[in-house]
Amino acid sequence: MRGWTILAGGLLVITAMSAVAADAIEARQAILKGIGDDTRPVAAMLKGEAPFELAKVKAALKTQAEGADKLKDLFPDNARTGKTEASPRIWAEKERFLAIYAKLAADARAAESAISDEASLKATFPKVVANCKACHDDFRVKK
Ligand code: HEC
Repeated sequence: MRGWTILAGGLLVITAMSAVAADAIEARQAILKGIGDDTRPVAAMLKGEAPFELAKVKAALKTQAEGADKLKDLFPDNARTGKTEASPRIWAEKERFLAIYAKLAADARAAESAISDEASLKATFPKVVANCKACHDDFRVKK
């Protein structure tokens, strides 16, 4: 009986740990999806496919900055594998990875005050979203 109790206890710990890992994966994907959803209409403005709307630009920048702040804590060591597009390189080069989130947050906050019209959007927004590509190229595995 004792052996079973220990085994059951061990399984419980393992189950609890994988629940935490799955939570981090789901939480970061939800934040990144939100960032994508808010960034897309602004990308359309940049391409001239949608009219300039300052409110949507500011909303996207806020989502990016606040999301980047939270994302820094959502790649713990136990959330490497599972239903995720996160590359193993994240954990091999954690500092460089986290620095891109910090840069995204800083660039998005700077852009919030720099963008007021279509011209300043075109001058500033591409620099902000360059961080998305910089990170995805190295740290996201498309499945
Ligand atoms: C520092 C790295 C980093 C930055 C910066 C970054 N991303 Fe990502 N992104 C990732 C990783 C890693 C994933 C995969 C996460 C996973 O599946 O666990 C991802 C996934 C996504 C997804 C898919 C989310 C889903 O539904 O699962 C979208 C959309 C996305 N990113 C958009 C963006 C946009 C837009 C920006 C810029 C404003 C951005 N990302 C900036 C690393 C980054």
